[in-house]
Amino acid sequence: MELTPALQEKLQKLKVKYQATGQDLDSYLDGLLYADYLTYWDYIHLDTLFSLQTPKTSFPDEHIFIMYHQITELYFKMCLHEFKQIAHNKSIDKKFFLARLTRINRYFENLIRSFDVMVDGMEPPQFMKFRMSLLPASGFQSAQYRMIEICATDFINLVSTEMRDKFRANPEATYEEMIEQIYWGRGATEMASGEKTYTLKQFEEKYSEELISLAKEFKTKNLWKIYKSFPKDDQNDQSLIQGLRLLDISVNINWPLAHYKSAVRYLQKDPEDIKATGGTNWQKYLPPRFQKRIFYPELWSDEELNNWGKGWVETEVFKVNWHPK
Ligand code: HEM
Repeated sequence: MELTPALQEKLQKLKVKYQATGQDLDSYLDGLLYADYLTYWDYIHLDTLFSLQTPKTSFPDEHIFIMYHQITELYFKMCLHEFKQIAHNKSIDKKFFLARLTRINRYFENLIRSFDVMVDGMEPPQFMKFRMSLLPASGFQSAQYRMIEICATDFINLVSTEMRDKFRANPEATYEEMIEQIYWGRGATEMASGEKTYTLKQFEEKYSEELISLAKEFKTKNLWKIYKSFPKDDQNDQSLIQGLRLLDISVNINWPLAHYKSAVRYLQKDPEDIKATGGTNWQKYLPPRFQKRIFYPELWSDEELNNWGKGWVETEVFKVNWHPK
């Protein structure tokens, strides 16, 4: 083989690279000689990935339930990767911000479009049975879902609506105090006793500390704060505003409604079904028109804020056929 000038230049660059860390190019070339070729299955750890579906029952549809949750968590991870890229870019500009925001919106669009895999893709009688073997676990315990919210907006917007003014009036309020009044606490309260469910207690034990430290880190780096750090002209750019509005609708209306559709499809209101959700009042908690979680209230008109989540509920969710008893 001819040692062309281009090849020699490459070798020289490699030599410099390894010398800089006191290492020897020759040994690395030996390593290259003996190393196996990389394969697709090793690179993406396919065998490990396929070993992660371990149903608790022998109902075939439980596989679908597990895999779709895993797919969703991977998409959530992709979203968080983009939030972090935005937060950690020291010389961020409008173009970089918009490109990453568009990626997040695209991931959520895929999740919303694909939710029918849950809504229509399993047999309800199978679901109702295997769901009982999974208690007290719930998608409610998805920490990445909460992390996305923390990265997207000011933490105060995640506090229960009726408590927000109190915290706004008190600049000394800590994250530890605010997380006690976080909106999701309302979704994991037992209807009968008003106590926190065990599902919530377990979640808090594992994740509260991590979520509080993320909230502190993203106090000045969440998507809203980065957007507000741009010059006024950039803030007025319609593509940025539309991108943020789309994210707000996707995370706070369309995904929750697609998800709610599956709860409506599979969970009835009789006592057995209530048991299957740990006794939570999900009908009053999951629909976005009750919760009014809104990341960017400044980007919506009063009318839009007042009608948050209403149109879609009426037009879509109630078209779903309730399965016969
Ligand atoms: C048949 C499919 C599903 C049903 C019937 C269902 C049902 C429910 C119910 C009833 C709740 C309220 C909390 C509780 O009572 O446990 C909930 C919360 C939640 N589920 Fe699901 N779920 C389904 C699929 C999924 C999937 C695929 C994900 C993806 C990770 C997911 C993520 C969540 C999240 C993040 C919450 C909390 C929502 C919030 O706080 O607003 N669920 N689910």
